[in-house]
Amino acid sequence: MNIEYVEATPDIQTYYELRDSVGWNNFCIEQTELALRDRKLFVLAKDCDKYVAMGSVVGDGMYYTIVDVVVRPEYQGKKIGATIVNKLVELIIKNIPEGGRTSIQLIAAPGKEEFYVKQGFDILPTKDSGAALRKIIYT
Ligand SMILES: CC(C)(COP(=O)(O)OP(=O)(O)OC[C@H]1O[C@@H](n2cnc3c(N)ncnc32)[C@H](O)[C@@H]1OP(=O)(O)O)[C@@H](O)C(=O)NCCC(=O)NCCS
Repeated sequence: MNIEYVEATPDIQTYYELRDSVGWNNFCIEQTELALRDRKLFVLAKDCDKYVAMGSVVGDGMYYTIVDVVVRPEYQGKKIGATIVNKLVELIIKNIPEGGRTSIQLIAAPGKEEFYVKQGFDILPTKDSGAALRKIIYT
């Protein structure tokens, strides 16, 4: 196995297939096409010609949210997820100006919290931050 990491946006089929591989529901085509067009940061992992993992970041330079971290089940447990998360963080850091700061958030899938703790994330609430909240809207 020779895993190569690339900073590139997946095509819609690859994106859907990677999410399908871990049992995640996909968003509709219209939303997905817009997201893939507008998202600035994606890291993909390839094994020869096959895309086996991805991770992505949504954000504006001050605040970032890590999303779509997926490793195909047969490739899990080989540090690919950790490498992708760390590459995303490195790309974010490159964009912080001297004297700046940024906050990187994410919502862990159930049971995946410790994976992110191992990459240096804190579980909220902390001494300085309250709990994370969210609202999901269906139309
Ligand atoms: C979660 C996921 C991205 C992890 O990727 P991975 O490539 O399998 O994990 P890695 O091999 O990079 O693991 C890195 C470290 O995290 C640990 N780890 C991985 N998953 C973990 C879990 N669920 N709980 C605790 N620790 C975990 C590993 O043991 C390893 O520890 P080490 O550095 O001490 O050896 C992957 O399992 C996955 O795609 N799962 C399904 C989709 C998902 O839930 N994505 C996360 C959405 S928030």
